[in-house]
Amino acid sequence: MKRIAVLASGRGSNFQAILDALSVGKINGEIVALLTDNRDAYAIQRADTAGIPAIVLNYKDYDSKEAYERDLLTAMQDVEADLFVCAGYMRIIGSEIAREFAGKMINIHPALLPAFSGLHGQRQAIQYGVKIAGCTVHFVDEGLDSGPIILQKAVEVLDDDDEDSLSGRILEQEHLAYPEAVALFCADRLQVCGRRVRILPEANNQ
Ligand code: GRF
Repeated sequence: MKRIAVLASGRGSNFQAILDALSVGKINGEIVALLTDNRDAYAIQRADTAGIPAIVLNYKDYDSKEAYERDLLTAMQDVEADLFVCAGYMRIIGSEIAREFAGKMINIHPALLPAFSGLHGQRQAIQYGVKIAGCTVHFVDEGLDSGPIILQKAVEVLDDDDEDSLSGRILEQEHLAYPEAVALFCADRLQVCGRRVRILPEANNQ
């Protein structure tokens, strides 16, 4: 059974979706810790309710990003997780952490990458005028939302959509995509070949 640590900065609805999937046995793993950079994150309450320890490294209490990242790296090493799941973790992962946990760290982004990376993917989609938007689960590398793609789910952009309505429909897909990707990782069914991630058939799972 894989040990999973979740990094979240706020609401934590993706964290909750993964907790729910775990509770009905859809993921062969256990969440061993929530790591957050925000002492006010609602995700902390979700962790409490689920009996999961929350490790709070309140970003605003740090003098520099370097000092924060040093503590985060130590905390991540200490939890000894097989998988780190960024679920609405709103900071760019530093190079040292990205390198240390390469292949063991995933993120969800509310756009169909490589379009609209960075902040406000849904707003960027509306402003650009695309007809199809969606979400992407990908491995974390040293770039911004640039690691190998595991899963994507698409939603149609409707004529009367605004950022909020589109974000809501994308979020519904995020709540499906993220538990699915975590389950595949935990079943050792993801094989990374360069930029491509192959999803191995269930039968290959030992
Ligand atoms: C999601 O839209 C996710 O794609 C993005 O931040 C949002 C987090 O939502 N990275 P939540 O905290 O999981 O509810």
